[in-house]
Amino acid sequence: MTDSRIGFGLLGTGLIAPFHARALQASSRARLVGAADLDKGRLQKFTTEFRCRGYSSLEAMLADPEVRVVNVLTPNHLHHDAVIQAAAAGRHLLIEKPPAMSLREVDAMAQACQAANVRVGVVLQCRTRKPVQAIRQAIDSGRFGRILQADTFMKWFRAADYYRMDAWRMSQKSGAGVTIQQAFHYIDLLHFLAGPVKRVHAQMRNLSHPGVKIEDTLLSFVEYESGALGVVEASTAHWPGTDVRIEINGENGTAIMVGERMDTWHFRDDRPEDAAIRLYGSAAVATGATGAADLGFHDHQAVIEDMVDAIERNREPVISLRSVRHTLEWALAMYKSAAQHAPVQLPLDDADCVLEQLAT
Ligand SMILES: NC(=O)c1ccc[n+]([C@@H]2O[C@H](COP(=O)([O-])OP(=O)(O)OC[C@H]3O[C@@H](n4cnc5c(N)ncnc54)[C@H](O)[C@@H]3O)[C@@H](O)[C@H]2O)c1
Repeated sequence: MTDSRIGFGLLGTGLIAPFHARALQASSRARLVGAADLDKGRLQKFTTEFRCRGYSSLEAMLADPEVRVVNVLTPNHLHHDAVIQAAAAGRHLLIEKPPAMSLREVDAMAQACQAANVRVGVVLQCRTRKPVQAIRQAIDSGRFGRILQADTFMKWFRAADYYRMDAWRMSQKSGAGVTIQQAFHYIDLLHFLAGPVKRVHAQMRNLSHPGVKIEDTLLSFVEYESGALGVVEASTAHWPGTDVRIEINGENGTAIMVGERMDTWHFRDDRPEDAAIRLYGSAAVATGATGAADLGFHDHQAVIEDMVDAIERNREPVISLRSVRHTLEWALAMYKSAAQHAPVQLPLDDADCVLEQLAT
């Protein structure tokens, strides 16, 4: 009997790959065909654990017709070339965040996928969480009134070992640093809920990781195009690491998400359904506060199943590459602001702009 589930192949078998594998194995609509890695030892361990095919390179994986979607799980600076190659081979793509290192790269990737008529999405799994969806719907229906403030406070911890695991985790050129690596999820949520942004004023420091030449702490003042204000605080310096907070304040209501649960949900027009919304999410689900592997896989499963749906219905994935362009632009603007010690206006006038070198 033929298997009708859509076949996925993973490019990279490092830290995040097991979460994709578990999500695929838990899904009734997708299946894990195999994985590729240049590191033979990692690949062997992974294919044994998840009982899937192993390929020594992306080219080898693209030669397998059962792989219809490639999940790009390589270090950040390697995403662009892999996406261009896989799109040219007619594969749909799910790219781990951040999708690329510059807006020019994002545009080239989007264009290549359009030309090849393949779907392309980004793994920003926090957008799938129920509290986020509830806040978005309340904004769309006008329940908040005018949004006054939209903030995130991410006080996480990463031990020095995390940075030493692989050279790219300490290299700004490879897209490391708390802003583009960890906080990207929550910058994206603020963009999704309250964006776009017109001006940022950021400062970055390395507070507690001596020897690691990137920022472990970001503080930024934000002005949204709507006129709302905001703050982005993000750090991997704060032991033991506490759940991230997203706070949205409107004229007529306040919503606060902590980790993946709704913490506060109050509107002037209290409604019967609000009691159930206040219970969304769970404090028991880990969201990365204390370590990189301190995560569940169900949000990844939701992103993967949306990709299956996008392929079957010939539509854009919900978290499309284009919808993430401004998130990257906002992150790059904060690096620019921190490097120049000055506010930066968006949109950026230079699509080739990459992470500016910081004296941390
Ligand atoms: N969505 C999330 O919550 C989340 C969490 C962690 C990491 N990530 C993202 O996932 C991506 C990977 O992160 P990681 O921590 O798993 O990295 P990692 O360094 O642990 O793993 C990357 C793997 O890619 C392999 N690789 C490198 N170049 C390759 C190539 N050309 N062909 C085949 N394999 C190659 C490496 O050998 C390594 O095994 C990054 O973009 C990161 O930002 C996302």
